[in-house]
Amino acid sequence: MKSILPKSIRWKVGLPMLFVGLLSGLGVGYYTYKQEVDDAKLLAQEKIKTALTFSKASRAYVREVLRPKIDQLLASASGCIKEDFILEAQSSSFFTASIFRTVSEELPDLKLRQVAFNPLNPKNNPDETEAKIIAFLRQNSAKEYSGVLEKAGDRYFFYASAVVVESGCLKCHYSVEAMPKALQAIYKPTQDPKWEVGKVQGAVVVSMPFEKVILRAQLNGLKNGLLVFGLFFGITLMLLIALDRLVFKPLELLERRAEEIAKGNVDEPIEIRGEDEIGRLAQAFERMRVSIKKVMDLLK
Ligand code: HEC
Repeated sequence: MKSILPKSIRWKVGLPMLFVGLLSGLGVGYYTYKQEVDDAKLLAQEKIKTALTFSKASRAYVREVLRPKIDQLLASASGCIKEDFILEAQSSSFFTASIFRTVSEELPDLKLRQVAFNPLNPKNNPDETEAKIIAFLRQNSAKEYSGVLEKAGDRYFFYASAVVVESGCLKCHYSVEAMPKALQAIYKPTQDPKWEVGKVQGAVVVSMPFEKVILRAQLNGLKNGLLVFGLFFGITLMLLIALDRLVFKPLELLERRAEEIAKGNVDEPIEIRGEDEIGRLAQAFERMRVSIKKVMDLLK
């Protein structure tokens, strides 16, 4: 049976080294890829959580500070009626969305959505994925929910916070009749929102594209893997070149000279110097050639 293993020592040494290089390259590549992906995921989650915390704080500020203050001012100002409404300062959703638009200009990956069933602004109607998030928060009576969601074939990291209805919300989110006239004029609601106190009505959702983050990690993994493989490839190449010059080339020369001696060509000396094993082998060959030449000269 013919062996499939290479006959030359060059390849007996070189192939296993290249193989080890390839395996280590793959190993390191995969390890850094995993590490990068884990780190990137964690970082993305933290960024999103920070953005969400800011959004929640901004909502709370309008609800607890700005709106009551402006309500008070409107009630006492001459020429104003209790029903007046300043959207820019009294709606926590409008206020927060406006601030977040500036944030998104600086950090375009971050997106904020404030959604609710039966919304005042039809733009804030939850899509299929957002409806699922609200359903999850409702069913589990959870305050927050995070993970990866899919939208139109793209994946996103998301962090969601439940919007729970309080009695104060009903002033604008219960019936068309009860809400400030200004709101009726802006949104022209056709039916009563009828939010219920204590119920999870919607969610504040911050998201970030998943694929982009992962792609960066994949590229880094690939880069590190190739680097390690390249390192092994370089070392193997250098070793093979050194072996070629120190061992294989002199051995081939010796082989050729031995063939010539066998054919009777004993006049030319073997010129391989050096104190190493190959050098000593060459010297032994040279002594053998000289002996053979002496015997042949005697026989002439
Ligand atoms: C003074 C009126 C007012 C009160 C009180 C009010 N909101 Fe709103 N809310 C608005 C307006 C106006 C919008 C629409 C803003 C926009 O155009 O994005 C809105 C929008 C929302 C939205 C986005 C969905 C939608 O309806 O468009 C959520 C969620 C929300 N409010 C939650 C609350 C909660 C929770 C409370 C009580 C803690 C509350 N709101 C109290 C005026 C109010």
